[in-house]
Amino acid sequence: MTKNIYASRILILDFGSQYTQIIVRRIREIGVYCESLKWNITEKEINDFSPNGIILSGGPESVTELNSSRVSNYIFNIGIPILGICYGMQIMAVQLGGVVEISNKREFGYANVEIIENCELFDNISDGINKNGNYILDVWMSHGDKIIKLPIDFKKVASTTNCLYAVIANDKKKFYGVQFHPEVTHTSKGVNILARFVKKICKCNLCWTTTTIVDDIINDLRNKIKNDYVLLAFSGGIDSSVTALLLHHAIGDKLFCVFVDNGLLRLNEAKETIDFFSKKFGLNIIKIQAEDRFLNALIGITDPEEKRKKIGNIFIEIFNEESIKYPNIKWLAQGTIYSDVIESGFSSIKKTHTIKSHHNVGGLPKKIKLSLIEPLKTLFKDEVYKIAIKLGLSNNVLYKHPFPGPGLGIRILGEIKKEYCDILRRADSIFIEELYKSNLYNKVSQAFAVFLPICSVAVMGDTRKYDWVISLRAVKTIDFMTAHWYQLPYNLLNKVSNRIINEVTGISRVVYDISGKPPSTIEWE
Ligand code: XMP
Repeated sequence: MTKNIYASRILILDFGSQYTQIIVRRIREIGVYCESLKWNITEKEINDFSPNGIILSGGPESVTELNSSRVSNYIFNIGIPILGICYGMQIMAVQLGGVVEISNKREFGYANVEIIENCELFDNISDGINKNGNYILDVWMSHGDKIIKLPIDFKKVASTTNCLYAVIANDKKKFYGVQFHPEVTHTSKGVNILARFVKKICKCNLCWTTTTIVDDIINDLRNKIKNDYVLLAFSGGIDSSVTALLLHHAIGDKLFCVFVDNGLLRLNEAKETIDFFSKKFGLNIIKIQAEDRFLNALIGITDPEEKRKKIGNIFIEIFNEESIKYPNIKWLAQGTIYSDVIESGFSSIKKTHTIKSHHNVGGLPKKIKLSLIEPLKTLFKDEVYKIAIKLGLSNNVLYKHPFPGPGLGIRILGEIKKEYCDILRRADSIFIEELYKSNLYNKVSQAFAVFLPICSVAVMGDTRKYDWVISLRAVKTIDFMTAHWYQLPYNLLNKVSNRIINEVTGISRVVYDISGKPPSTIEWE
């Protein structure tokens, strides 16, 4: 029997703060399962979630505006601890009899909170003592409104120079409000405060650890799948690799990993990926050689979105054909993770049946008559990384740059031809090899070559060449939503350019892309 990793749970009611997902991650890092759901979920949904504590997030609205969001009063009557953060604190104040008004002084950035009254939330947590002999906390504030009258049965716990009620509490009911953001790293004791709330005030057990998560997923997969067989779209990227390894632990050879070589992969990628995972982990990988099928279907197509769609549709056709080939296969596994679920606008994992428009299978595989299984669906990327390490994946898989599902198809501008793919593969491989050699591969977030279907003149020896152009792209980013072009050393660029022009027939010129995102996307198409 594995421990029930969902036994203790915190519910975040989300009012649209940009930090809500950070709160979820912090609570999980502390060791407690946590989910954020929209602020207006029903009483039944709250009961179904069965939280040990509720956190009301911040949000962009002003409590003083007519029709601004309010939480159901129900949560104040069910006897569980509540922590309101920023907007969450203000609505709690207003709904429980306090008054909030627009402040003439916005408080944004670092602040010093002076603790005036003892409170269980901060007991022995502080950043020092001020000249009044009171404990202080260094925190991050971001608010315009402030409480001017306490709600009934609440006490003032702490203030800043601009904000009289920076922290409020009703110890008896275990309701706490903080005007600052404990979830951001700028609040130095923020994690301690959240941990105090979760562990001591909500009395949660710490069941959410990498080991227990892995055991739980494997157990759950076994119970669900029983004696059936499972098909997995396997690309060798981190999400599909972790999904494959978890399934392999759960059901062994009843997992069929399908690796599609669509002719748009990087140099030697198919062979290296299949060899690595079948030899090191014993995965049962079926390689589908489909270069001609993809390239023939792409003849004459120049529009990037049309290319994506075409590539995605053929992936689906192939999975459909494979699933029919093996009648025992009842399940299709996907490496969907929690952020994919959030991005598709579905808040509650438990209620979501929607299949992610997964890049690698390029759309909803409606045609496929299999049940969907998504073992990573509750997990953040950093949790997936921790599991990957636990399952023995090495750095070459863990820290590989992301590679888009349509592959070189969106790195060859305009129409795709085999000749272009072959040239691009070799140029790209030289670029990546040199990045590794100069220890820069892990410093850039994503690097690759792009094939530009324009010709330019080069004179090599006595021969005039009129050949294609390659652009190099290397970016640094945290979330891939924005990115800076990476300032690679000139001597490295020089070496890569020389090698590409000398070693790859068909290239006359190499350029370096110095565009940031926004506005220029990371991929050229
Ligand atoms: P952009 O080009 O939008 O890329 O700045 C952001 C990140 O997404 C990847 N990307 C894709 N991944 N299918 C994928 O699986 C796609 O169609 C696709 N387009 C972009 C890109 O490589 C980068 O990491």
